[in-house]
Amino acid sequence: MERTFIMVKPDGVQRNLIGDIVERFEKKGFKLVGAKLMQIPTELAETHYGEHSDKPFFGELVGFITSGPVFAMVWEGENVILTARKMMGATNPTESDVATIRGDYGLTVGKNVIHGSDSPESAAREIDLFFDSKELISYEKDS
Ligand code: CMP
Repeated sequence: MERTFIMVKPDGVQRNLIGDIVERFEKKGFKLVGAKLMQIPTELAETHYGEHSDKPFFGELVGFITSGPVFAMVWEGENVILTARKMMGATNPTESDVATIRGDYGLTVGKNVIHGSDSPESAAREIDLFFDSKELISYEKDS
């Protein structure tokens, strides 16, 4: 079954949005298989956002994601990677549809509340970066 990495960013944690975001994924029917509140070390942030290392906003991006705790999660379900991206909405909150997470709560392209893997390759890489395999739990759950 497909898995994806989802992270409530520091602005989402500060604004008490963890519960709302978890609830959206639970109610959609996805299964939570791992979760933790964590402060991301700079080196991990630089690795996670490595594909943006040549962008002018890279320093700002790493500075922001390490500025406070994040809530890292792994969700499982059919087509969870693409569906989660749709639930999150466009990266820039000015372009994200209402009723998406960023459309409802995002303020700027930097402070956009949530991150989610954009492909199966990114999901595998990001899950591996943020979680030990023993932190991920396989269990049966009625939808
Ligand atoms: P995320 O899905 O976490 O992946 C890369 C992030 O880069 C993206 O969300 C945005 O928050 C961030 N980003 C993209 N463009 C800019 C920008 N111009 N300035 C600051 N952050 C940006």
